Amino acid sequence: MEVIIRPDAAAACRLTAHLIANAIRENPRLVLGLATGRTMEKLYEMLAQMHRENGLDFAEVQSFNLDEYVGLAPEDPDSYRTYMNHHLFSKVNIKLENTYLPNGAAPDPDAECAEYDAQITACGGIGLQLLGIGRTGHIGFNEPLSALRSRTRCKALSPETMAQNSPLFSDPARMPRRAMTMGVGTIIESKRCLMLVTGDEKADILAKAVEGPITSMISATALQLHPRCTVIVDEAAAAKLQQREYYHWIFDNEPEWDPYRA
Ligand code: F6R
Repeated sequence: MEVIIRPDAAAACRLTAHLIANAIRENPRLVLGLATGRTMEKLYEMLAQMHRENGLDFAEVQSFNLDEYVGLAPEDPDSYRTYMNHHLFSKVNIKLENTYLPNGAAPDPDAECAEYDAQITACGGIGLQLLGIGRTGHIGFNEPLSALRSRTRCKALSPETMAQNSPLFSDPARMPRRAMTMGVGTIIESKRCLMLVTGDEKADILAKAVEGPITSMISATALQLHPRCTVIVDEAAAAKLQQREYYHWIFDNEPEWDPYRA
């Protein structure tokens, strides 16, 4: 795992956008894992801008989102499908038929989850998985005690996650209490993981996730097992990290980061 600290949220999003853009340029048929949430909105704006102004081409990209709320149909205004269509898919030239999210309204949610995992495998696995982190330390909706080898399945949302996300609903009381989520095992099989974390309210959980012991109580700690995981954070989110100086040194000196030092 590598931690890269940027001065602010805009710079963290910009670096993440450049890494995703480079991955698409290197492999135009990239299988891209996507996340939703507040943190990603700015990032998707930047990717849309790169498409408009620099011709970043999503024509052959396939995408798989991490999660969807159980009970919400794709066309529901509060579904993650609607979020993705609004923030990214309608603003770039990705083919909608190449964008996958679990169907929250599937009559058999367990079968839907198993099928989702199988679709990821059929596409050759995820090349680059974008992740955020929730207040419980979840990646996707892998709440505390999610098995570190779990597959896509339904999970009960924690009270903390309900409090985190219900204000995003048109009516907070509409927020479902369960979600379909890629499992921790599914996520860490991705060839590369990029976790983007910004804001001081994430500082405590980020420190536990990257510098604490691996535990199913904090599913993001499983990323420590991943052979190629980059965590991009702003100074505010980095505030509680013990090795901040070392992480700065990496960005300032490692050749991999040369192109990104303006
Ligand atoms: C959503 C997802 C979640 C979020 C996390 C952070 O698809 O995967 O793990 O990334 O809850 O959400 P924000 O960015 O709203 O703080």
